[in-house]
Amino acid sequence: MKTFDTVAGLQAHLDQLRKAGKKIGFVPTMGALHNGHMSLIKEAKKHSDATVCSIFVNPTQFDEKSDLDKYPRTLEADSKLLAAEGNEVVFAPSVKEVYPQGTSKGLDLDFGYLANCMEGASRPGHFDGMAQVVSRLLDIVQPDSLYMGQKDYQQFAIVQSMVAQQGRKLQLYRCPIIREEDGLAMSSRNRRIPGENRLIAPMIYRIIKGIKDNPLDLTVPELRYWAMTSLEMTGFKPLYVEIVNAKTLAPVDHLQDPDGVVVCVATWLGEVRLIDNMIIS
Ligand code: PAJ
Repeated sequence: MKTFDTVAGLQAHLDQLRKAGKKIGFVPTMGALHNGHMSLIKEAKKHSDATVCSIFVNPTQFDEKSDLDKYPRTLEADSKLLAAEGNEVVFAPSVKEVYPQGTSKGLDLDFGYLANCMEGASRPGHFDGMAQVVSRLLDIVQPDSLYMGQKDYQQFAIVQSMVAQQGRKLQLYRCPIIREEDGLAMSSRNRRIPGENRLIAPMIYRIIKGIKDNPLDLTVPELRYWAMTSLEMTGFKPLYVEIVNAKTLAPVDHLQDPDGVVVCVATWLGEVRLIDNMIIS
């Protein structure tokens, strides 16, 4: 496995691969890798000859400076995991390398409601920064395919819109959520959940699953109310439980919709902000 921290070094290597006719699959990450990330590498390996994984804690997508400072940085352990998975190339650049002109120039794209709802409403600027860095990384790597997780459902929808608006010629794959055995969606933030809270954390999954199964045939407003109060009673501070159209992310009135329906949840558990979702139809 080769590791690069400069754009020039990475691009020289990728040019060689392309000249040899190799298809390049790209997995952008912020590091602190776990099996969720590894599932994207596995998927990328199925569809490409060489996989590139970027590890870059992007400052422009953090709305809280303290969250950026607290973000785990574990390049050595990440590299070991990637090498064991058979990943070919790691790109671990500095902020200056990614943003040589500074971070202020964002993208001139409008994602409309996709970026204003849910995470967008409670984390102002987050998606602009996310789209800015993914666009920049795509310009640098020029991959044939891009792999992102359903774990960040709204992020995926925005990247999909960005790729379409920019007319990029790449195949975009959405990879399923990888969970711990007890149902908690894997996340780099989970390592910050203290023991007593870790025991209640899987309730998020059980509640989303409860909405999907809906054994009492509740209406959408009743399901949302049930989910919010169940989270509160278990010790969470929920931010939202939304039941939305899988394409537009607009709230739905019924659990059946031709576009599909997704349940999205964001909640505080102590000091840790967690998100999860499930495609329910
Ligand atoms: P990060 O949180 O490191 O996630 C990198 C990728 O891994 C994302 O596509 C995310 O959806 C996916 N992922 C995380 N946990 C997962 C899980 N449990 N199952 C499946 N996939 C999972 O998302 C980002 O970084 C950043 O916003 C980034 C796109 C890299 C831009 O900075």
